[in-house]
Amino acid sequence: MNRRKFLGYTAIGLGAGMGGLALWNPFKGGRSVTTKAEANSNFVPDVEIALTAQPGEVQIFSGKPTQVYHYTAKVLKGPSQVVQSIDNSYLGPIFRLKRGQKVRVHFTSQLEQETIVHWHGLHVPEQADGHPRYVIDKGETYVYEFTVANRAGTYWFHPHPHGKTGPQVYGGLAGLFLVSDEEEQALGLPSGPYDLPLVIQDRTFDADNQLVYLTGGMMQRMNGFLGDRILVNGQPDARFNLASNVYRLRLLNGSNSRIYKVAWSDGTPLTVIGTDGGLLEKPLTRPYVMLGPAERIELWADFSAYALNSEMRLVSLPFDGAGGVGMMGGGMMGRGRQNNRLANGSGFEIARFKIVKKEIPTLRLPARLSRVSKANVSSAINVNNPRTFTFAMGMGSATINGRTFEMTRVANDEVVKLNTTEVWQLINGGGGGMGMMGGMMQMPHPVHVHGLQFRVVERTPGAGWASMKDGFVDEGWKDTVLLMPGMRAKILLRFEDFTGLYLYHCHNLEHEDMGMMRNYLVEA
Ligand code: C2O
Ligand code: CU
Ligand code: CU
Repeated sequence: MNRRKFLGYTAIGLGAGMGGLALWNPFKGGRSVTTKAEANSNFVPDVEIALTAQPGEVQIFSGKPTQVYHYTAKVLKGPSQVVQSIDNSYLGPIFRLKRGQKVRVHFTSQLEQETIVHWHGLHVPEQADGHPRYVIDKGETYVYEFTVANRAGTYWFHPHPHGKTGPQVYGGLAGLFLVSDEEEQALGLPSGPYDLPLVIQDRTFDADNQLVYLTGGMMQRMNGFLGDRILVNGQPDARFNLASNVYRLRLLNGSNSRIYKVAWSDGTPLTVIGTDGGLLEKPLTRPYVMLGPAERIELWADFSAYALNSEMRLVSLPFDGAGGVGMMGGGMMGRGRQNNRLANGSGFEIARFKIVKKEIPTLRLPARLSRVSKANVSSAINVNNPRTFTFAMGMGSATINGRTFEMTRVANDEVVKLNTTEVWQLINGGGGGMGMMGGMMQMPHPVHVHGLQFRVVERTPGAGWASMKDGFVDEGWKDTVLLMPGMRAKILLRFEDFTGLYLYHCHNLEHEDMGMMRNYLVEA
């Protein structure tokens, strides 16, 4: 293991100057700790950002403001457009960076609980990946340094303290990290106000407009928390006033556990141009798209045929198989209907788009978007013997291959070699048909791997297949793959550039917090 010098510092706020110390408490978070202790003077950043997580309040409804957590950011070096805040929202800010840029982020916590930031989808050194062993306390600062190596695409950042990711993301901590590159710039995709990110989340509010989280006990944690209001960019009943033009819609499912089956309400097919890891080779048409927690999809949306004042509705269609444990019906295993007004798999509206301005579009959908290399399974060193990981939910337990999260441990089957390509088989549930009696519970697991983008090379049907089979976009680069109960997926991953300890886990944040997360180690 690439162990770096073990250094502990006392807390100093960022206000004390740009000393660039990554400060943290060495006595929390486990044993064989490695950290980056100082900003590296050899690293000359193009962009330097101060990012803070803090409690605050936003006016979401009329009446009482809602207490939230939120990130704020300030550009210390580089063009001011690299940080774009979202008005009157807990969400954001949005980072807009270019591939190849060197970035230094000074992250300071003003939260009363430990936290750390993870850059979801980015290929960064392990010290910059936001592993939970790097958590900081209030008043401390952690310095991230990395080069933006990813393809143009829609990535994001969120907290990653072990056991508290769910409540912190739910409380409002999440932002988009948009990367552009030359290949993408040359395409002439919709930009400026026509490049519209849509972060979709669900929340429950009490009568005082305050967020409600996990009041339903163990069953609710096991299912994952579902809110009964749908928010887009932090706003309920989201409405967007648009021109009759073409838009690039970047959708992120930023929900803790809700799955969306995204579609236009009038049946217009979706034109998909990108996935988690950036642009597809060419646009694809789908009747709807399944979007599990943490997944992204980019759409080319052409509103030019719509009349002034007409309204398009983006919806989530009903689907089967989301499973879940309920207390009703024939005992503990209800048929997947959580005691919730908006069950996972029910249909609802996400947002409305009203045409308020007539425009003649000048952009045309490119026939070819990007170069996406063929997923060459035979390049894997274990092509005939995939590494297998089984995600299983028991009564109060959430495991991968029977194991739960350990801060710094890796098992023998979790060590990979740098500069190799592997096939992993990800299995939801370890075989179908297990009910309470078998000790397993059937529920979806959106599986995420840190530090890289992978390819989905095979997917077998799972629960609810008929209601969702046309909605998986496995043609591009992915970092999260939604596994419905009983489903298996084979993914192709390449480990390059960085050694160290990374995570793979279920991105149902309640499952993750329960320990459905493990380390994998990339060894030289
Ligand atoms: Cu989006 Cu390990 O996380
Ligand atoms: Cu991640
Ligand atoms: Cu899960």
